[in-house]
Amino acid sequence: MKFFLDTANLDELKKGASWGIVDGVTTNPSLIAKEGRPLEEQVRMICDIVDGDISAEVVSTEAKSMIEEGRKLSKIHKNIVVKCPLTRDGIMATSALSKDGIRVNVTLCFSPGQALLAAKAGAYIISPFVGRLDDIGFTGMDLIRSITQIYKNYGYKTQVLAASLRSPTHVIDSALAGAHIGTMPFKVLDMLFNHPLTDKGLDQFLKDWGKVFHEAGAAR
Ligand code: G3P
Repeated sequence: MKFFLDTANLDELKKGASWGIVDGVTTNPSLIAKEGRPLEEQVRMICDIVDGDISAEVVSTEAKSMIEEGRKLSKIHKNIVVKCPLTRDGIMATSALSKDGIRVNVTLCFSPGQALLAAKAGAYIISPFVGRLDDIGFTGMDLIRSITQIYKNYGYKTQVLAASLRSPTHVIDSALAGAHIGTMPFKVLDMLFNHPLTDKGLDQFLKDWGKVFHEAGAAR
């Protein structure tokens, strides 16, 4: 499973990248706006930190302008994946951009039927939102399970990117469901490291080691 960071924050990206386990980045207009720099500038800086797929989202709502915007975004860096929303215009733009060889991540997917539309339009990535479905009382993970099964049935090449992941359990369940990619906030990536038995075990190893070797050293 590929791990993407769902953030436009450079400090978080630098820290995640230094661990050597970050395969890409997803951004959206809300995440870019939080950092306060123009999209193009922010995305360029992200590309300098992480060498992998970097999703940058269009903000137009009509297919024609989405296509123009998508073409422009794709020229920022070779790793840019253009993100389009799952609307009629977004699917039209996805289809046109994909035909031109531009990789598209179709975002704001909340149903298996929508995911089918994206695959048929030639999307490189589909982004189903797990947490936001949980928020309204559905089991978001069922969506990941359905999409991976449907894509497998027909051999669609579109990668399933589990988005809106809010906890380590979301990441693990997405992996069990066969998602190709999980995108997560830095906080969730960091939480994946934690286990009390790891801390306890390491503490004991170092104590045992210190008792023999430190004391033997001190006796010399
Ligand atoms: O990038 C899209 C998605 O991951 C957003 O997550 O937590 O705002 O629902 P969230």
